[in-house]
Amino acid sequence: MRDFEKLGQFYLGRRYDPQQKQATDDLLLYDSKDLVTHALCVGMTGSGKTGLCLALMEEAAIDAVPALIIDPKGDLSNLLLTFPALTAEDFTPWVNADDARRNGQSEADYAAAQAATWKQGLAAWGQDGERIARLKNAAEFTIYTPGSTAGVPLSILKSFAAPDAAIAGDPELLRNRIQTTATTLLGLAAVDADPLKSREHILIATILQSAWTAGRDLTLPEIIQQIQTPPVARIGVLDLDSFFPASDRFALAMALNNLLAAPGFDVWMQGEPLDIGRLLYGAGGKPRISICSIAHLGDAERMFFVSLLLNQTIGWMRSQPGTTSLRAIVYMDEIAGYFPPVANPPAKAPLLTLLKQARAFGVGVVLATQNPVDLDYKGLANCGTWFLGRLQTERDKARVLEGLESAATTAGQAFDRQSIDETLSSLPSRVFVMNNVHEDGPVVFETRWTLSYLRGPLGREEIRRLMTDREAVTPVATPAGEPPPLPASRAAATAAPPVLPAGVAQYFLPVRSSSGTSITYQPMIYGFAQWRCADSKLKVDALVDVGVVTPLSTGPVPVDWNGSAPIDIKPADLEQAGDPEIAFAALPPNALNAKTMAAWTKGFGAWVYGSQSMELMKAAHSGVASAPGESERDFRIRLQQTSREGRDAMVEKLRRKYAPKIAAAQERLRRAQQALEREAEQANAQKLQTAISFGTTLLGAFMGRKAVSASTLGRATTAMRGVGRTVKESQDIGRAQETIAAIEQQLRQLDDDLHAEIAGIEAQFDASTETLETVACKPKKTTINVQLVALVWVPYAAGPGGLSPAW
Ligand SMILES: Nc1ncnc2c1ncn2[C@@H]1O[C@H](COP(=O)(O)OP(=O)(O)OP(=O)(O)O)[C@@H](O)[C@H]1O
Ligand SMILES: [Mg+2]
Repeated sequence: MRDFEKLGQFYLGRRYDPQQKQATDDLLLYDSKDLVTHALCVGMTGSGKTGLCLALMEEAAIDAVPALIIDPKGDLSNLLLTFPALTAEDFTPWVNADDARRNGQSEADYAAAQAATWKQGLAAWGQDGERIARLKNAAEFTIYTPGSTAGVPLSILKSFAAPDAAIAGDPELLRNRIQTTATTLLGLAAVDADPLKSREHILIATILQSAWTAGRDLTLPEIIQQIQTPPVARIGVLDLDSFFPASDRFALAMALNNLLAAPGFDVWMQGEPLDIGRLLYGAGGKPRISICSIAHLGDAERMFFVSLLLNQTIGWMRSQPGTTSLRAIVYMDEIAGYFPPVANPPAKAPLLTLLKQARAFGVGVVLATQNPVDLDYKGLANCGTWFLGRLQTERDKARVLEGLESAATTAGQAFDRQSIDETLSSLPSRVFVMNNVHEDGPVVFETRWTLSYLRGPLGREEIRRLMTDREAVTPVATPAGEPPPLPASRAAATAAPPVLPAGVAQYFLPVRSSSGTSITYQPMIYGFAQWRCADSKLKVDALVDVGVVTPLSTGPVPVDWNGSAPIDIKPADLEQAGDPEIAFAALPPNALNAKTMAAWTKGFGAWVYGSQSMELMKAAHSGVASAPGESERDFRIRLQQTSREGRDAMVEKLRRKYAPKIAAAQERLRRAQQALEREAEQANAQKLQTAISFGTTLLGAFMGRKAVSASTLGRATTAMRGVGRTVKESQDIGRAQETIAAIEQQLRQLDDDLHAEIAGIEAQFDASTETLETVACKPKKTTINVQLVALVWVPYAAGPGGLSPAW
């Protein structure tokens, strides 16, 4: 493995010399954390944008950064065409038959040629099958096809569900979500309605608002039903029927109903839920690259899906803790039409929100287009990295130069408009100007060969073939406790509630399943306590809930907490009154009074102390512990991010450590070089030329242009060589050469030191190999807070095997 792969640096290509018209040996490495300020990739068709962005996704995957990819054209699914063995047989099923025919070759011959091209292409960029294997193993790759079963369908059913707390608690986000959902819904139903101003839009927004602020989920059929009978009587100051008469509402309901009834629409309700957390991480926390292919959809459906997906992404993002490292990528190719300068299609608002806010959450947005003039100017100003390929028209170029110039001015950089203009006009394909606000100025580079086989858009059948063998993603289950089953002998019941002694309170559990008529209330004792799970060494401090029910029995020990069952019910969830239709089982005689309640309460506290323990996971290497209740999946996802943050911090530290040393060597070198040039001039030496570059060393690539000018070092070494060849005899020159050689040696030493330090970083920060130990955290007596012990009536249904809980 190359050293830079341990450092969160993305290998995108090599620097390109526009004068010589060829790539140099200097690697172009891009700091993964620079991507949190987003990237924009523009260039005319065939300039290599998709190739560049796929290389970026490959690098991210290798670095365990998950990505959500929106693929309007169908060629991003090429990320699944990865063949570590690079054999002709691997390629044969996937070559484009038309391309083979056009080449006058059989598919097998064409595949063999393609395999050879890929192998050579990769080798020319220092890559091989092993790196392909690394990519393949680093993440789970999936092609989703919303509204189609060719790939994995994505269900939008949950999309009308009430947004989670992160959104519901923020009025602006909630309003945004309501507006975009209403707009997309109307767009999908092809209702010609002015967003925001039309009564159709206002009504749907009102329906969403009243359900969502009450935390209630909606389904499309419910929305249709509520359009006919809305949950509100007035809209603004008007009563509903004058604002939007019932007959007109019926027409709107019909339009949406037709959508629901349209053949094929049911596919939108199938498949995995559109849940961003699931699209980004697998069951064990493994990063996922989820490609949403939308090439098969019509324009309205695409817009509907893209805005839905982006809105969900914002919701997910807001629930993440802040970070300065890259956490995930959202990449959309062919962005034109979704982010126009003047109009406001539903996808624009969430995109703008992402560009403005995603940075704080470590979510990097990557956008690509052929047409920079079709993009919203304000949004572009939020992109910290611009990749500019060859541009077709003067208008495109002018737009891009304008943007670059204003970015440079903001960043306080010099901007040579004319030279960049010239460079932009003469770029061959796969050569880009990169302007990264985190660096000193623009760089020209050629993109590296992609590990994935870029065969072009995949069709339905190919997507189907790619996805059929895939393992289903295991759902993340949350266990919910319930009361234990009871023997049938407890079924005897009286209609009236038993009379309770003074000082004994009673509560009821709501009836959950109403199947059958033979439901009875069974007496149980409910206990609820909170205890503090704290461990300063593990940096854990949290309150843990314990809620249980245990049967109130007729035996000598009426209440046995050891026989209790956990139940996911808090005291506030208990009901004060029961269902009058349900009969009560008899209370054990004489068991219940204020004194026994007090004893049971005490017993419950003692039982909590003796029985409760929280199993936590501890990462063997980093020592980080899971939070109480955190699943292994969530913990592993968190570990990946903390280790990425640790690594990025370490890289910064290394840069700071090496920068002054390099700067000092550089200064000595500059002086030695001047001396050498003076001597050479006097000795009438021939003109000095050709460069060997310092950038090929790790040190040069690692520092980029952030702290050291690779070119100065390169020139100095050159000077020494050129001179060395021509005027060997001059002693002065010899001395200058020696100085330069010594500095060179010193730099080589620095390079070796850096290698050694980097080798240590990997072991320290590789979250994927972390072994997890289990450690137990137990309650202390003083931190147990028993909140309630009381009689609860639990509904039970009689069945063939006895009584089963019906709450
Ligand atoms: N990094 C790369 N490695 C190997 N081949 C590449 C790479 N980049 C581009 N190519 C080749 O060049 C062709 C065109 O590049 P690409 O599809 O990336 O262009 P584009 O700018 O996305 O064009 P469009 O705007 O039409 O989508 C690809 O089909 C592929 O054959
Ligand atoms: Mg493309």
